[in-house]
Amino acid sequence: MTLRSWLEYRTIMATQAENREEDEVVRLIGWVANKREHGKKVFITLRDRSGFIQLVGAPPTSLPETLNLMKEAGLESSVAVEGLIKKDPRAPGGVEVHIRNFRVVAEASPWPVTLSALKSPGFLFDMRHLTLRGRRSRAMMLIRAELLRAAQGYFEGNGYVWFQGPTFITSACEGGSTLFNVEYFGRKVYLTQSAQLYEEAAICSLEKVYVIQPSFRSEKSRTRRHLTEYWHIEAEAAFAEHEDIMDVEEALVHHMVSKVAKNRQEELSTLKIKDLEPPLRPFARITYDEALDILRRKGIAMDWGEDLSTEAERVLCDEFEQPFFVTAYSTKARSFYHMPDPQRPEITLSSDLIAPGYGEITSGGQRIHDYDLLLSRILDQGLDPEEYRWYLELRRYGLPPHSGFGLGLERVISWILRLEHIRQAIYFPRTPSRTYP
Ligand code: 4AD
Ligand code: MG
Repeated sequence: MTLRSWLEYRTIMATQAENREEDEVVRLIGWVANKREHGKKVFITLRDRSGFIQLVGAPPTSLPETLNLMKEAGLESSVAVEGLIKKDPRAPGGVEVHIRNFRVVAEASPWPVTLSALKSPGFLFDMRHLTLRGRRSRAMMLIRAELLRAAQGYFEGNGYVWFQGPTFITSACEGGSTLFNVEYFGRKVYLTQSAQLYEEAAICSLEKVYVIQPSFRSEKSRTRRHLTEYWHIEAEAAFAEHEDIMDVEEALVHHMVSKVAKNRQEELSTLKIKDLEPPLRPFARITYDEALDILRRKGIAMDWGEDLSTEAERVLCDEFEQPFFVTAYSTKARSFYHMPDPQRPEITLSSDLIAPGYGEITSGGQRIHDYDLLLSRILDQGLDPEEYRWYLELRRYGLPPHSGFGLGLERVISWILRLEHIRQAIYFPRTPSRTYP
């Protein structure tokens, strides 16, 4: 047999075995995900990108050399195998492959992620480059990819253009306290917190844009909901008011969760999520004032105008079974760009989408499109108008009323998969204490 590559060697993927005939000869490539010996037999669970299949080493199909190779193969070695399809109701998936040829493509050293190591989350994240291969991490990665594909599908299907903002920036979008400083040829610049301000420039040509890229927050608060680098899904639309953008957020979140519920049943069951349903629409919309009333009844007193604390948000969450919007946050609790309500300038045309049992997953609202109003808000918040010169200037050249929002991808993953910590929702998490691996 002459082969150009291992890929040519492969005749089926693991999950295609069930559709093959009894005794058909197949060849697979993948990794040794699990191995056990039982009498003269060896059972190996082979993993490839499609999933898992049971390989059986047993005489007479497997000659003694083949059996030995199978017994010696270390966990996570990559292998190329040839064998016969055997239907067996006891095998996972109802089919197994009886091996007559077994080759190690790349050997693995003794696998360091042992059962006792599993008890230390710190160690598991130190070994993230290896633990990503585990069934649970794999399920999370596939669900994450599904959510991204769904978000992109939603935007592309609704007339939005994919936009990319810069990573190095010079003016804060979400307040100076969470900016990361970067030394830039002797000058100080920052890492982006949000592409929003740049999206606002693009909508005067494209009308509707969306963004999928990392945002950076120098948040020293070590909570289960904060990363220092997270994936931000944002959108901005011209001629759209606050209510319009809440409709978009609702449709987007509904679409994302629906796709996972429909297409990722197997991964959800690996993660023991049995009952994921698309959220019921329409989502409730309560005002900040109404939220404060609920909280007061629950014994949480808050000064009017303060941002909702994590505790307050948690208590509020327990009142709802579906995602809900809190609207009309106070002007002083929000960033400078938020449009004040013309009827009541102490509140803004803004909202957060709160997921039940979790907390904030999006923030959005209508932006100020008037030059003088924006300038006065910049000054009120003690910011330097010079740093926002280009952003202000947009207001001199036909910027219509417009609105947008940002959604934290890892927050959505943590919510639907009920993860203990947001670091489980990203491949290589960055937190105040972790930049390795
Ligand atoms: O609420 P934020 O700070 O709003 C903005 O950045 C707006 N400029 C977005 C916009 O209107 N285009 O961030 C938006 C979302 C939050 O609701 C949250 O889901 C997520 O980003 N987020 C974080 N996720 C993980 N770790 C962090 N440190 C996060 N900070 C915000
Ligand atoms: Mg927010």
